Amino acid sequence: MSTRQKWVKTILLTGVLLFFLGCGHMAYLGMHGSSIKSYPDVHDSVEKEDTQCLECHHPDNAEGPVSPHPEFTGCINCHND
Ligand code: HEC
Ligand code: HEC
Repeated sequence: MSTRQKWVKTILLTGVLLFFLGCGHMAYLGMHGSSIKSYPDVHDSVEKEDTQCLECHHPDNAEGPVSPHPEFTGCINCHND
């Protein structure tokens, strides 16, 4: 195999791999979750940091509704409108 062919194969395989790894999150592409603004009194004092959100929404110690995806980052990107 030439070096070039090897490269093409590597790149293709990487693409396929990333595609499948991403599948779990695919459902969320372009989707927005419910907004923290629906409960302003609860979220008023929240600084919009992931760590804070997780203090109340991580499955292990939830005070509010449990997050189905505590491993996500940038909570506010999807839950702010
Ligand atoms: C002080 C604890 C606390 C913090 C911090 C907090 N939440 Fe909440 N959150 C709650 C509670 C309690 C509710 C449920 C309110 C209700 O049902 O009356 C809620 C509701 C929600 C909901 C709505 C769920 C639904 O059923 O519609 C979302 C989405 C949410 N929070 C996301 C976030 C995000 C994102 C952050 C970080 C910016 C965050 N929360 C920070 C306590 C918190
Ligand atoms: C890529 C966008 C995205 C990100 C980032 C994200 N969420 Fe969500 N979230 C959603 C969507 C969409 C739903 C509704 C999913 C469902 O019903 O299966 C949801 C559901 C929830 C719920 C359940 C309440 C409800 O409305 O059913 C909570 C709580 C929540 N997210 C908290 C968080 C927290 C905390 C973070 C950060 C660690 C976060 N989310 C990051 C998109 C996102």
